[in-house]
Amino acid sequence: MEEGDFRVLGLACSPRKGGNTDLMLESALEGAAALGATVERVYVAHLDIHPCKACNACFKTGKCVQQDDMQGLYPKLLSYEGIILAAPIFSMNLAAQAKILIDRLQCCWAKKFVLKEHTVPVEERANRRGLWLSAAGFNKPEVFEHALPTVRYFFGMLEISRRERVCFFNVDEKGAIKEVPGALAECREAGERLVHPPEYEEGEHEWLSSLS
Ligand SMILES: Cc1cc2nc3c(=O)[nH]c(=O)nc-3n(C[C@H](O)[C@H](O)[C@H](O)COP(=O)(O)O)c2cc1C
Repeated sequence: MEEGDFRVLGLACSPRKGGNTDLMLESALEGAAALGATVERVYVAHLDIHPCKACNACFKTGKCVQQDDMQGLYPKLLSYEGIILAAPIFSMNLAAQAKILIDRLQCCWAKKFVLKEHTVPVEERANRRGLWLSAAGFNKPEVFEHALPTVRYFFGMLEISRRERVCFFNVDEKGAIKEVPGALAECREAGERLVHPPEYEEGEHEWLSSLS
């Protein structure tokens, strides 16, 4: 791959711009950009993205009929090589802004399991990698447990099997992540690994995690 060919889409899902997960995302994107990736940050919470209506129209076409900002995100989600989901824990699970976006991948589910078609060409899948960045105020690492299946589902729908997470608990106030020693450096390194990953066994799913 040529420099700049690896594209990273960073999904900032917290409504708090400049908040903890946004800062984590910024560091990860800096890390990816430093290794030559083309990076893009999207403030999901500030887009017009409506919840899935369960109309099942996508069961026939594989496409979502709702004409909102999600239409601009679908092509990127399905073609960019790196996807970063920066989503904090709200009410013991993913923030609703992230969950609404994930629910809107129902058209990918339909394409895959109802229409039996590919959402991402098989030859492109090996190049795809994902990273989940999260922060939570609660002071125990279990706080991320309920969100994990949803995050796995998200990356699964996007045909991303190589994924990592960097999650910090006991981080509550806006910007508190800056006071956690090494936290943002860790996010930056995770962003670098997205572009230049360590060696994997074929088909291996990685969940390197830092739950400090
Ligand atoms: C509506 C709401 C619900 C929250 N619920 C939880 C929770 O259930 N568990 C938790 O550990 N922290 C919870 N928090 C705290 C956030 O996870 C924490 O402040 C985090 O650092 C926010 O990240 P951000 O700055 O990127 O938005 C909640 C915050 C909000 C605003």
